Amino acid sequence: MVNPGTGHNSAPMESPEGVTHLTSPRESVLVIDFGSQYSMLIARRVRESHVYCEIVSHGSTWESVAHLNPRGVILSGGPASVYEEGAPLAPQWVYDKGLPVLGICYGMQVMAHQLGGSVKPAAKREYGHAVMHQCSSGNSIFDALPESMQVWMSHGDHITEPPPGFAALAYTDNSPITVMGDDRHRYGLQFHPEVVHTPQGKAIIENFLYKACKCEGLWTTGNFINESITSIQDRVGTGKVICALSGGVDSAVAATLVHRAVGDQLTCIFVNNGLMRRNEPEQVREVFEKHFKANLIYSEATENFLGALQGVVDPETKRKIIGEEFIRVFDEEAAGIGEVDFLAQGTLYPDVIESETSDNTVSAKIKTHHNVGGLPEHMKLKLVEPLRNLFKDEVRNVGLELGLPEEIVHRQPFPGPGLAIRIIGEVTYDKLEILRAADAIVMDEIRSNGLYDETWQSFAVLTDTRSVGVVGDLRTYGHVIAIRAVTSEDAMTADWARIPHDVLARMSSRIANEVPDVNRVVYDITSKPPGTIEWE
Ligand code: XMP
Repeated sequence: MVNPGTGHNSAPMESPEGVTHLTSPRESVLVIDFGSQYSMLIARRVRESHVYCEIVSHGSTWESVAHLNPRGVILSGGPASVYEEGAPLAPQWVYDKGLPVLGICYGMQVMAHQLGGSVKPAAKREYGHAVMHQCSSGNSIFDALPESMQVWMSHGDHITEPPPGFAALAYTDNSPITVMGDDRHRYGLQFHPEVVHTPQGKAIIENFLYKACKCEGLWTTGNFINESITSIQDRVGTGKVICALSGGVDSAVAATLVHRAVGDQLTCIFVNNGLMRRNEPEQVREVFEKHFKANLIYSEATENFLGALQGVVDPETKRKIIGEEFIRVFDEEAAGIGEVDFLAQGTLYPDVIESETSDNTVSAKIKTHHNVGGLPEHMKLKLVEPLRNLFKDEVRNVGLELGLPEEIVHRQPFPGPGLAIRIIGEVTYDKLEILRAADAIVMDEIRSNGLYDETWQSFAVLTDTRSVGVVGDLRTYGHVIAIRAVTSEDAMTADWARIPHDVLARMSSRIANEVPDVNRVVYDITSKPPGTIEWE
């Protein structure tokens, strides 16, 4: 159903509860978030250990989490001090329900404070590696672990008196109560088990999950796929679904899962804006049309986009035009399908958490699909977001298990405006062809030298500079191509990748020899900050 404008900025959804996701796992462990930079990492560690985990606010009620069937609770670290006024505390249900608890750093102090122990500022802040020794062997939290182990500390306060019923289980030179526990499987750790600097940390978390919480380990890719197929079928019924494919992993996995669940009720729309890398549009077609036999509308819109971009040099204007053009083309294609009820989107868990913590309104939870440039304002569609509980690595596993090719599943991030922001100045068909040819050589060398997975993004940029060169006895005046390759964790910061010189040499000579009109190649050695990853 494509209705007249509503004034919303993005496709509205009917209600937050209506969103398709795994609403009732058979078991879970909850992370109560006190604002730690590591909460997300704790959740990932728990999931890697095959137990479903969600991060919930310290203000959550039992009614809001009971459907997750929690078998235990992890209290995260956080920047506060428990004796400060207004310091966040764990909700009372954590203790009343008799659940096993793992308090990490601030979480340990919260538990000590709430259960009648004593927390004081330490004489000196402890930060970094420490060696921890068990007080006595035999506690299940240390099952199969050595007597002494390296841990990573980061705290200012410490426990001076454990709560009634708790005993010290381990100590370090600076901290007599590094671990405390009681006989109801409630533990406090002064160190961070979730970081790699605590080498036995994963084993400690797993002891908590399996010995204390008695979890079964039901969170597997196979279970996820089966359960989400059922839940998509329940939600969609006989309705019609559309999904915009961007060529990236998230939308590809979401579409594949929805296709598995409802088959021909799904129509995928792929808009070829003419700004993709070499062979990418063809690959989307190959995978979805030929391999999965999904309904695919392949909209060839290169001319529309290049027409709209004619004469435009400003990067933000390029982005705006590409976003608007996408909406126009998508809208037109969707209208041709007739009545549609649902929109499938590849929103991931980190997006959900981010928008929940930044703004708790429903609209903030809707991802304006970054990679496809937003969707028509007036489309009143209900959302199907089968990946909204997943981390990126889980999405990749689901993609592989569903049979998507490695190339899509492990694809490096690619900006929605595509090559338009890698051509400095006006975008033309000829420049796109030059850039695609140079970029294909960069990618070929990156892949064949095993550098694809260790670089966050790697690509070519067509600068607006021309330089003088010489071929034989002839002077040339050609384009300058810049090679950009960065390492990064999350694109917020990045370092230029130390690509071996011989690989750079091969890229350079191949580009200068094989790509017409290019006579100079440079390597970008700028980190972010002060640079950005893209040139525009
Ligand atoms: P920068 O260049 O700001 O990029 O360091 C950070 C990350 O975002 C990607 N990027 C974009 N993605 N639309 C997108 O979908 C855009 O307009 C856009 N601009 C940059 C970039 O590729 C990198 O991963």
